[in-house]
Amino acid sequence: SRSIHLAVIPGDGIGPEVVAEGLKVLDAVAPSSGLAFERTSYDLGAARWHRTGETLPDSVLEELRGQDAILLGAVGDPSVPSGVLERGLLLRARFELDHYVNLRPVKLFPGVSTPLAGVTTEDVDMIVVREGTEGPYTGVGGVLRKGTPHEVATQESVNTAFGVERVVRYAFEQAANRPRRKLTLVHKDNVLTFAGDLYQRVLKKVAAEYPQVTTDYCHVDAATMFFVNQPGRFDVVVTDNLFGDIITDIGAAIAGGIGLAASGNVNPDGTAPSMFEPVHGSAPDIAGQGKADPTATILSVVMLLDHLGAAEAARRVERAVAEDLAERAGQGARSTAQIGDAIAKRVSG
Ligand code: NAD
Ligand code: IPM
Ligand code: MN
Repeated sequence: SRSIHLAVIPGDGIGPEVVAEGLKVLDAVAPSSGLAFERTSYDLGAARWHRTGETLPDSVLEELRGQDAILLGAVGDPSVPSGVLERGLLLRARFELDHYVNLRPVKLFPGVSTPLAGVTTEDVDMIVVREGTEGPYTGVGGVLRKGTPHEVATQESVNTAFGVERVVRYAFEQAANRPRRKLTLVHKDNVLTFAGDLYQRVLKKVAAEYPQVTTDYCHVDAATMFFVNQPGRFDVVVTDNLFGDIITDIGAAIAGGIGLAASGNVNPDGTAPSMFEPVHGSAPDIAGQGKADPTATILSVVMLLDHLGAAEAARRVERAVAEDLAERAGQGARSTAQIGDAIAKRVSG
């Protein structure tokens, strides 16, 4: 079996709780996956910052570069100023490891309850390709005359032809390999005319290479509405970093809740390890209570397995999750570990 060096970053809040279940399931499938995982756990997050002032030190970043993949729980804690860990740890990892594709499936599994009326599992089955290294996330900008009545805060959106083209290309490739072959650009080109126009021109240019893919465009405000009242409009969605963040929380809500939403921060060129994590955060409101749903992390493990080429193992875990979800309604409330145990058992048995 092929040896895989897996970095694990449990992080803050419910991060360690859900990662433990993700690893439990990975351990259950590993023997039949053709992969042998060598895991290294990294102590990063709020506790490390309080102890040392570090978020993601250079030396740790270099170690991460040498790994084959990363599994992350969540970062962020009320005891740390907002942004310190989010920017210093999570975004730094995404940027430095060139995770220019943030892949976020929005898929309603059979038997899962959705707040939408009258939808079927076919209506809610899309994949959001969120740009991961540019847009308003780069940190370009600053503050002038802070604390005065004349304070000016700017936060610029950076969009490069190179960055937009590579993520749009990836999205076309995804669309070309799905049955419906439809790609929707979500942006706000009626107001963000510079960035929106760049995305539009790149979409048009790359579309010429994918005549089999239908393209569509939707302003982000309308997209939030259509996610709720016509989710079947969407197959593959490509969008900028911030819009992608926002619409994938809506996506999570329509597909059964934030506890089910998985993601992959992908470096498609393989120049650095990709990083898999649930879409949700550290959920300080339920941390330490064994209430967090680990399913999003387990489905992120599915994405990790697919990324590593272990498709059979991925399908096996996915099937176990689908079976568990189908029977959930009748189960009453289960703890984080009970859900992880049930899915791991289905994987082994
Ligand atoms: P959140 O996703 O942590 O929580 C939002 C709501 O969803 C909360 O009510 C929470 O209890 C619930 N929830 C989240 N995950 C759940 C799960 N697995 N099972 C059941 N319920 C779950 O978002 P927030 O409250 O906006 O942010 C909290 C902290 O997390 C902040 O510090 C934020 O910056 C950080 N954050 C980190 C990530 C990440 O690490 N990728 C993502 C989002 C937010
Ligand atoms: C997410 C989170 C992050 C983001 C934050 C914590 C930086 O909300 O992974 O969705 O905005 O990308
Ligand atoms: Mn988010």
